[in-house]
Amino acid sequence: MNRVTPDPARIDAAVQDALRTWGREPTQLLQVLRQTQEPLGFLPPQALERIAAELEVPIARVRGVTAFYSFLYPESPGAYRVLFSDNVTDRMRGSEDRLREMSQRLWVEPGKVSEDGLVSLDRTSSIGLCDHAPAVLVNGRPVPDVDAARAAQLCELILARVPLAEWPRELFLVEDHVRRADVILNDRMQPGDAIRAALARGVASGTGSQATLDEIKAARLLGRGGAGFTTGVKWESCSRQPLTPRVVICNADEGEPGTFKDRLLLGRYADMVFDGMTVAAWGIGASRGFVYLRGEYRYLYDALLETLERRRRAGLLGVAICGQAGFDFDVQIHLGAGSYVCGEASALVESLEGKRGIPRNRPPRLAERGYLGLPTIVNNVESYCAAALIVLHGAAWFRARGTERSSGTKLLSVAGDCERPGIYEYPLGVTVREVLEDCGAHDAIAVQVGGPSGSCIGQDEFDRRIAFEDIETGGAFIVFDGSRDLFEVARHFSHFFAHESCGFCTPCRVGTSLLRNLMDKISAGKGSQHDLNTLEELARLLRNASHCGLGESAGRPLLGTLERFRPAYERHLGSPAVEPAFDLDGALARARRITGRNDPGAFLGDAP
Ligand SMILES: Cc1cc2nc3c(=O)[nH]c(=O)nc-3n(C[C@H](O)[C@H](O)[C@H](O)COP(=O)(O)O)c2cc1C
Ligand code: SF4
Repeated sequence: MNRVTPDPARIDAAVQDALRTWGREPTQLLQVLRQTQEPLGFLPPQALERIAAELEVPIARVRGVTAFYSFLYPESPGAYRVLFSDNVTDRMRGSEDRLREMSQRLWVEPGKVSEDGLVSLDRTSSIGLCDHAPAVLVNGRPVPDVDAARAAQLCELILARVPLAEWPRELFLVEDHVRRADVILNDRMQPGDAIRAALARGVASGTGSQATLDEIKAARLLGRGGAGFTTGVKWESCSRQPLTPRVVICNADEGEPGTFKDRLLLGRYADMVFDGMTVAAWGIGASRGFVYLRGEYRYLYDALLETLERRRRAGLLGVAICGQAGFDFDVQIHLGAGSYVCGEASALVESLEGKRGIPRNRPPRLAERGYLGLPTIVNNVESYCAAALIVLHGAAWFRARGTERSSGTKLLSVAGDCERPGIYEYPLGVTVREVLEDCGAHDAIAVQVGGPSGSCIGQDEFDRRIAFEDIETGGAFIVFDGSRDLFEVARHFSHFFAHESCGFCTPCRVGTSLLRNLMDKISAGKGSQHDLNTLEELARLLRNASHCGLGESAGRPLLGTLERFRPAYERHLGSPAVEPAFDLDGALARARRITGRNDPGAFLGDAP
């Protein structure tokens, strides 16, 4: 069971196996590292050296990539690696208590590996199971609804060294709670329906693939990943680039804490997603496709591969799709490895190229020069589903739902203080109040819409609408009732951003840490009005000076809650005067004891 020192033959077998799957192109580095790690449990130095040699890339790059992703381990994390999802919704449902219990029962501190190398416990950013909080990953496999009994059961299985393959299957069962369905979740389209409709539309109009672009533009589809960019414009701009081949990428990173709707679409509507991607490929003239699947969704990977294989056999992928000469397109799935910033489209493309996920400078836009310098579109999972339905049913049908400026429906991932967490699909324009009523949130005082990067709104705003002209969201909808401390919620988010900052640019690298430290200082009762002012200044600086959307959003939870819920902050303030975070005099107390000094010179202020 102990995987601390795999023998050289095992390392070699693991590397060779990964190379057989992914080949020797440097772009496959991340995938080769991931797959090599699966049987070994971690990436020993010999494996890194071997991979560097086989892919002919500098060892420094291999080490750099390994260090960048939190799910790549240069040292053994133990035979069992238990990662607690650390979203605010997990904490609200007792994840810290469960972590403590497991830590005591397994004799291992969070963040460390047990002395016998059996197990490690740690926290990780949200794993996309907020409707099943608290949830954990054990060696990458999700265990939902970890109450005290389940935590004890996990400990017993680990202490008895039962191989994961022999654990009761129900432990890993992730139910999808679909609470409200509309056009996407109710649709019964068959695999390939949207592709055939796109081809037929081209024939009927005599404009070929342009007909698809025209329909998407006429539908006024705005991207569902959060930023709300006009999909038709993005696709058309890419289709006009002279360079080929063009590339279609599905952003299935779903890293925004609180979001889990793409999990449902990838698990139960994969054909709709692939139809949407293939329609996009037809529209822009692309021949290569990728799904960038977050590492936390590794358990969806095998079923997605099977769906792709079935579609190839059915002529829905590959050469001459649906019998259309020249329409060649295929899709590969790449797994991420635990990095929130890789959801940002250009960082995602870097990661797909086998590098660290550092967001690119723009221009050029990805539509001009994206994956390997090729014209590329990146869209959210839900955007591809909407695109498939638009091509199948028409732009007018799509625009019949939603508002004038926000057509169609939106999937919301609802969690937190409500009776019925789960997925809700609404026409855009639904009010926050309607969602709260439907999910059984009786005494909500606030809702965090759009995750930490979104907005925290209070009761006086519950009649506002979820729509691009009012409250924009990628889909997260976290409810807080009167028992919650919104300062602590914002503090939690400040830790999230500091942890996930990629460190590339100074305002974000330093600013997110300063914000986190100030929030901790206030939480410890040492904050002052001066600190609140500094918080505001820092949050604004982050917004204006950061290189990418992560840094730009990092101060939003603070600015939003400070503006709407200032008393929640003021309750934590210790003194009206400026107080340092570090208690120097307290720290000197030990030195005074050791040296036996008690004279006035041994104190910073007046001796007691
Ligand atoms: C830090 C960061 C993380 C992001 N994560 C995601 C994500 O997980 N999924 C997603 O679709 N978009 C994410 N985005 C937005 C993408 O950059 C991009 O706008 C989106 O994938 C475009 O697709 P759409 O037009 O269909 O929304 C993220 C952006 C930032 C700045
Ligand atoms: S803003 Fe943050 S996440 Fe984005 S590039 Fe700069 S350091 Fe990296």
